[in-house]
Amino acid sequence: MIELLRRFGGKFRRYMVIGPACKLIEVIFDLLTPLVIAQMIDKGIGAHDVNAVVHYGMVLGAMAVIGISFTLVCQKMAALTSQGMGTDIRGALYQHINKLSYAELDRFGTPSLITRITNDVNQVQLAVALGVRMLIRWPFLAVGSMCAALAIDLKLGIIFLICTPAIGLVFWVVMARCIPYYKQLQAKLDRIALICREGLSGARVVRAFVREDHERERFAQAADDQANTAIAVGKLSSILNPVTFLVMNLGVCAILWVGGIQVNVGELTQGQVMAFVNYMTQTLTSIVYVANLVVVFTKSSASASRINEVLNCVPSITDEGNQPVALPEPGNVAPVPALSFDHASFSFGVGAANAVSDVTLELPLGKTLGIIGGTGSGKSTLVSLIPRLYDASAGSVSVMGADVRAWPLDQLRHVVATVPQRASLVSGTIRSNLTWRDESATDDELWAALDMAQASEFVRNKPQGLDAPVEAGGKNFSGGQRQRLTIARALVGSPQILIMDDSASALDFKTDAALRHAIRERSVRGAAEGGLPLTTVIVSQRVSTVRDADMICVLDHGSVAGLGTHDELYASCQLYREICQSQLRREELEGQQGSTVPASAPTAPAPTCSKEGC
Ligand SMILES: Nc1ncnc2c1ncn2[C@@H]1O[C@H](COP(=O)(O)OP(=O)(O)OP(=O)(O)O)[C@@H](O)[C@H]1O
Ligand SMILES: [Mg+2]
Repeated sequence: MIELLRRFGGKFRRYMVIGPACKLIEVIFDLLTPLVIAQMIDKGIGAHDVNAVVHYGMVLGAMAVIGISFTLVCQKMAALTSQGMGTDIRGALYQHINKLSYAELDRFGTPSLITRITNDVNQVQLAVALGVRMLIRWPFLAVGSMCAALAIDLKLGIIFLICTPAIGLVFWVVMARCIPYYKQLQAKLDRIALICREGLSGARVVRAFVREDHERERFAQAADDQANTAIAVGKLSSILNPVTFLVMNLGVCAILWVGGIQVNVGELTQGQVMAFVNYMTQTLTSIVYVANLVVVFTKSSASASRINEVLNCVPSITDEGNQPVALPEPGNVAPVPALSFDHASFSFGVGAANAVSDVTLELPLGKTLGIIGGTGSGKSTLVSLIPRLYDASAGSVSVMGADVRAWPLDQLRHVVATVPQRASLVSGTIRSNLTWRDESATDDELWAALDMAQASEFVRNKPQGLDAPVEAGGKNFSGGQRQRLTIARALVGSPQILIMDDSASALDFKTDAALRHAIRERSVRGAAEGGLPLTTVIVSQRVSTVRDADMICVLDHGSVAGLGTHDELYASCQLYREICQSQLRREELEGQQGSTVPASAPTAPAPTCSKEGC
């Protein structure tokens, strides 16, 4: 909490001084009130003097008005500080999360990050507001009332000195048991957020597989678990109020008993006894409130440490000090490979098996690399090393001859455009989605990209064309349309390297072929117009999508099982041959070098690989 105050509180220092100062003035009036009441009792009510009653009544009224005015100012300062700090923390968290690499995002998990940016920031906000309003009030009121009471009569003060530690002890015992529960509650909220997110984002799949009951059960379990912890902590803390008020009222009885005797013998006045009772009640109530503040601060310090954990997480992928990389001259591109992997390996965590193992390959500028392999063979992981979404754990990856770790990230990700495996669009319009890479792209450029991505037809059919609305996640488009729009988005802004990660999986064979043809044409045209030819990396599980590539990399459990052209691999790589035999038609396989077409070869293309582990 202190760390957050140091980071974000500076701007609000003025409010954090004015607010408590106003509260202090209100507390001074609260401390004077019992003395004025004592005077009212002794000089007004006791002496049957109506004028004195009215006089002290007016003094009390004036003190109340002044007290309320200062309270209002304090309230405003508290609102300005807490809301302002909350906004700043949320903004800083969001900005920092955007700087984290995939590795850190994987570690925290999206639901936990969402809870931290919403619920945890709210907790901190609440603590700041209470801190400005109450942190001075209750301790000051408790100590002030105690001193004032002892000043009235030391003998009665002994009752005071017995009650106060008794209440303190009750609090200490209860709080020590409650605090661990508060920490658990946050983690349980994270779990509810995770299940909610999975259940809601996968609602269609859940229904398609008739898993509603299972999901309901999972949610109910998590909610019950959270509720049980909240109830356990609620039960524990519910002991607090009855016990403290019991001690307090026993104390008041004792004061009235002993005070009454002292009034009888003339050692004290009635007003002084009443003032003593008021001070005692104020002190003990203040202790109850201080304890509540402790609860709020405990919860918020758990939240603050979760926020700090994110803010202090150093992004593992940074580009500090990296100078812009000079791209090869268009006329002199031969010596520099567009892309090279040098014994690159990657694993998702310490001790985890390598998702990519010792990959070495080089792709010249303007050429096409096809990557094929079974599900989980490491295709997406391998291509995510190129725009530095992850850093290779061993070996290196270079783009245009420079290690990706030497590139400024903005430049690297401008040069390398990625079409991710999961087509994701954000709410807005088609235009706002297409201009992510280049906000100044003209309509002609957008239509050219849509043409290449085979998406212009359905966009033209929309009455609003480029300004047609896109709903959250692009859910008002079909899977194939979403894929084409994400391909078009990558093509805007003239990338030099295009990575398509299984991006044509929802396209029919004809459209897939037309897309590859359009990309190849664009590469040739780019070179003819004096620019760099487009280098393409196509990840697919379909042989038909990669077979025309200049180089095909066959991945098997993260390692390169074969590297070469379609014909070379068909002749030399058993895994590739098996994939081909499971997908290509008999007539397509006939005539391949070294081929013996098995009787089981399909007569029509099968969309996926049949080899186990592929
Ligand atoms: N974020 C992650 N955390 C931990 N392990 C992961 C993560 N992403 C992928 N993996 C693991 O890394 C391996 C390679 O995954 P990858 O997504 O690269 O496979 P793929 O070849 O692209 O598969 P597909 O064809 O299904 O897209 C798999 O074993 C997978 O379980
Ligand atoms: Mg993949």
